[in-house]
Amino acid sequence: MPTDRRPEFFKGAQLKVAIIGCGYVGLPLALRFAEAGHKVTGFDTDPRKVQMLNSGKSYIEHIAQNKIQQYVNSRHFNATDDFSRLSEADAILICVPTPLNEYREPDLSYVEDTAKSIQPHLQKGQLVVLESTTYPGTTEELVLPILEKSGLRCPIVSGPENENVPGDFFLAFSPEREDPGNKQYGLAQIPKVVGGVNPPSGRAAQALYAQVVARVVPVSSTRAAEMTKLLENIFRCVNIALVNELKLLCLRMLVDVCEVIDAAATKPFGFMPFYPGPGLGGHCIPVDPYYLSWKAREYDFSTRFIELAGEVNTAMPYHVVDSVVEALNRHKKSLKGSKLLVLGVAYKKDVDDQRESPSFKIMEILQKRGAEFDYNDPYFPHLSKMRHYDYSHMKSVPLNAETLGRYDAVLIATDHSSYDYSAIVDAAKLVVDTRNATRRVIRHREKIFLC
Ligand SMILES: NC(=O)c1ccc[n+]([C@@H]2O[C@H](COP(=O)([O-])OP(=O)(O)OC[C@H]3O[C@@H](n4cnc5c(N)ncnc54)[C@H](O)[C@@H]3O)[C@@H](O)[C@H]2O)c1
Repeated sequence: MPTDRRPEFFKGAQLKVAIIGCGYVGLPLALRFAEAGHKVTGFDTDPRKVQMLNSGKSYIEHIAQNKIQQYVNSRHFNATDDFSRLSEADAILICVPTPLNEYREPDLSYVEDTAKSIQPHLQKGQLVVLESTTYPGTTEELVLPILEKSGLRCPIVSGPENENVPGDFFLAFSPEREDPGNKQYGLAQIPKVVGGVNPPSGRAAQALYAQVVARVVPVSSTRAAEMTKLLENIFRCVNIALVNELKLLCLRMLVDVCEVIDAAATKPFGFMPFYPGPGLGGHCIPVDPYYLSWKAREYDFSTRFIELAGEVNTAMPYHVVDSVVEALNRHKKSLKGSKLLVLGVAYKKDVDDQRESPSFKIMEILQKRGAEFDYNDPYFPHLSKMRHYDYSHMKSVPLNAETLGRYDAVLIATDHSSYDYSAIVDAAKLVVDTRNATRRVIRHREKIFLC
């Protein structure tokens, strides 16, 4: 391996790329580099995933098996849990989880463990990029000191006078903007923001990513790149809170909030539609803003928009259950002892991702208030133990007129496209709709309770 590498090396023809963490972010990235002709090795601590990948199998619904098989066969992709093989790589991209701990504080243990597993194998001239979403300062304050324990150096400097500052390795941050299930924008079409610990690191990372995405957007530092990702997700979180609050008002005013949002979205400038729902879900939006509010405390700063949006959004599952109570009440029934069917446990429609799904919070509240319930989700035939919930005893019940008719109410929590909403309303006694999924249903609208 050349030890006096310049950033331009990463424009090179065929690079050896290591991707650490082969999940929703890492696996598509690995396949994209393989598709561009590079030699990619996926590193993961989960031996089951490593084994599946090496046999050309996919464990993520929207990632086609034949794509993995194709690159395994052509020897452009393989997976391993042997981290000593990191020494062979030209570039090492870190895509491990960044969740919150039980106190809703950043849990950077995966990033820290990963940096520690790179450190003994770090080579001169290697490029390391953190992709995991995190607060500004993580790359410089957490990852860099661990990597420098190797004895190799990567100075934190910026500005034109440091264009060619010497260093032993390159270190950058580049946030992932993957939107699982989005058929319009795949990885190759989405511009990628890149910031280096120093100018050569920034240029090295830009050169690398320019080979796999349509546009690279350089920023002046890793902190700016880290903050960019958080701004994007906080923007979504705050806007979702806004429409969730307006929905509650619209329900009282007998105004259809979705009709209003769709009408407002016809304005060709200055408006972007966000839609209300039963609460926040997914790995990013309910989690990432708290990374910034936690870090802001170090600067005696309170991020009020984040706190307020969190307050509104976390109240939504409680609003849903209160709505179920009201809907049942109209049928002279109490929640306690009623039998409900929850439709959808994925955090959003048409994905096999249940992380932070509001459906589970709703199920927890229903359970505490004495309701009985089953669920159906075509993407989850059965449930497994999660970080906060254990519904591993539950299996998806079949969806047909006979089963639907057995429940006191059907609760639409996720608006999967495969559901036939007219048939659901026809067969159900009562439908509580948290997503306005039944808006095109014509028959039996008297059974629908929008919330
Ligand atoms: N999922 C998304 O849509 C999305 C979008 C943008 C950004 N992100 C961010 O990307 C990062 C990764 O998210 P994800 O959704 O891919 O997570 P994921 O849970 O799907 O995948 C993470 C993978 O890392 C592996 N792993 C955990 N610790 C490891 C270690 N020490 N060494 C090697 N592998 C390890 C896990 O086994 C898993 O396969 C997070 O910071 C997340 O916030 C996610």
